[in-house]
Amino acid sequence: MENEIFSPTMLEEIERRLERFVHEAGYPANLQEAVAHALLGGGKRLRPLLTLRCCEAVGASTKEALEAAASVEMVHAFSLVHDDLPALDNDLMRRGKPTVHVAFGEAMAILAGDALLALAMHAACSSPHDSGRIAHEVTNATSAMIAGQVYDTLGGFSPSTTARERLQIIHNHKTGALIRCACRIGALCGGARNESFAAIDRWGDLIGLMFQAVDDLLDVTQSAEHVGKAVGKDQDAGKLTYPAVYGIDETRKEIARLRKDALAALEPLGSGADHLLSVTEYLAARTR
Ligand code: IPE
Ligand code: IPE
Ligand code: MG
Ligand code: MG
Ligand code: MG
Repeated sequence: MENEIFSPTMLEEIERRLERFVHEAGYPANLQEAVAHALLGGGKRLRPLLTLRCCEAVGASTKEALEAAASVEMVHAFSLVHDDLPALDNDLMRRGKPTVHVAFGEAMAILAGDALLALAMHAACSSPHDSGRIAHEVTNATSAMIAGQVYDTLGGFSPSTTARERLQIIHNHKTGALIRCACRIGALCGGARNESFAAIDRWGDLIGLMFQAVDDLLDVTQSAEHVGKAVGKDQDAGKLTYPAVYGIDETRKEIARLRKDALAALEPLGSGADHLLSVTEYLAARTR
């Protein structure tokens, strides 16, 4: 199933487009090296794949969405570089390699993250389709992600919110917004009509939340070697996660519920959604 969703041709196209953006940025060699370390040759490429798959699901060629796809992956890479910093999650390994601050120092990690954000905006503005709208979508999702990281790391909730409400707010912001954005911009690049766009938007919202619920579960059920990053750290850091709030069994039930709702959200798309159905199954069952 994984090979069918993560088409080698699509992955290759994404990689080449990311490389070109990095090489054309004109950065000094040390910054280019740090940006390349963070962005190139690693990661599942889920978000850009979602962009391409959603473009395809509404009947357009994936070529139309490559710049938008690159943009969302760059925001993701930026979020990971900063997420791993000592002041945030203080992680040493990412995608099976040393994190950017370990390899290049903290100052460079901060700046490489900044550079990735700027490159992401450049990529969004380079979209052949409605670049202004794509750039808005990506900036809005980035703002939500940053707000989510603040909730996750520093709190800031009103005292009356329950743990379950806080969890949903954190996850929808820090992870869900960018995944939903990846889906929305793919649909926009494909010229989606109202009903198809609404279906993809709803699906993106559900799989975005499910993605972080699974990530939380993997933190307590998988090994660092398997996932390519440290595990077992969320609890020590006192993070609000699905397993912490619901327990492992209830977390699995929540994931099953989100999977079911996500599959139902695709109904209006008919057979155009075949790959998105497979993506849903993969995301509910993934182990890394
Ligand atoms: C990790 O995302 C960060 C989260 C939002 C949970 P991914 O699991 O997509 O990381 P990569 O891109 O494959 O490394
Ligand atoms: C990641 O959440 C969210 C963002 C990077 C925005 P986590 O902190 O759980 O991600 P991992 O587990 O380090 O990949
Ligand atoms: Mg984090
Ligand atoms: Mg982290
Ligand atoms: Mg995690």
